[in-house]
Amino acid sequence: VPKIIVDTDPGGDDSFALLWLQSLAKQGLADIVAVTAAAGNVSAKRTFQGASRLLQLGGFDAVEVGRGVCRELEGIGDAAYIHGLDGMGNLCQTLPASPRSFDTARSSDDILIEKLQAMPGEITLVAIAPLTNLASAEKKSPGILKRAKEIVIMGGAFHTPGNVTSESEFNIAFDPEAAQTVFASRNDLIIIPLDVTHQLIFTPTMAAQLHRPQTKRPFTPRQSQLAQFITTLCDFMTQTALAYRETQGLPGFLVHDAATLAYVFYPETLAFCRARVNVETQGIWTRGKTLIDSRHRAKSSANAWVASTVECASVLAIMLEDLKHLVQT
Ligand code: BDR
Ligand code: CA
Repeated sequence: VPKIIVDTDPGGDDSFALLWLQSLAKQGLADIVAVTAAAGNVSAKRTFQGASRLLQLGGFDAVEVGRGVCRELEGIGDAAYIHGLDGMGNLCQTLPASPRSFDTARSSDDILIEKLQAMPGEITLVAIAPLTNLASAEKKSPGILKRAKEIVIMGGAFHTPGNVTSESEFNIAFDPEAAQTVFASRNDLIIIPLDVTHQLIFTPTMAAQLHRPQTKRPFTPRQSQLAQFITTLCDFMTQTALAYRETQGLPGFLVHDAATLAYVFYPETLAFCRARVNVETQGIWTRGKTLIDSRHRAKSSANAWVASTVECASVLAIMLEDLKHLVQT
């Protein structure tokens, strides 16, 4: 069973990924070692609260949540305009309260260092936020990221336009220096860029299916709350996605971050190319742009496998089935 640490900045799509992962863990298919919250879509404090409450909602009260490393960053600012002021469609307060405290929580980079040291070669790091925590861990403890079994990153845009600037994708553009540190940390990173995630549209029609009990018994209050949260968040995200034309006018929203879990648990749904990936950290117009060195000889210095295709219909269908499982059990 894969041991997982999720580095996340909930985030509408992060929320879906965290619920999907909890379903997989409930089915005995995943072991959630920790969740390291990160500043990104909203502040470190808000992502800590969001991640904590999502774990309460799924019933994973014992999983430690780290507080995101804060750096003074110039540039793009947060993405509350997409995800809501709390990062979760302004629904965070409706979720069960968590006993975890931001003020006393351990820092996300320290948790990463401790767990990777304790379990070398065992942990899959699912990175679905700006890479500040991972880079900070690597700076404090050089070589630590090599101790992960695998690092799976949602980030970057290669052949499609970016989503925060014409050239750059949010997770990389938020902290390009951190991304470059992580990209230099090992030669087998798994990178799932916008090029494939912008095809993963989760729709309100899919969410509606979660409201149908599959047994004769009506839903318990907890089951109703889960189904209600997922549909309301989906509706909120669908509205902003339409406003920002992220889905070409189709009703639904992009579940970028969920693609990382598709890779870890259903790897046949994605295909990859070997590549050398770098990040532009200097450009006025191109800061945060991810680049593939496409010269032939660059293959020998490759640092990543970059996702090139995704079987969208399969990923969305599997994810929906797993979310149904979470609601039904
Ligand atoms: C990424 O940026 C964030 O807003 C999303 O949560 C996702 O991780 C997509 O570019
Ligand atoms: Ca995210």
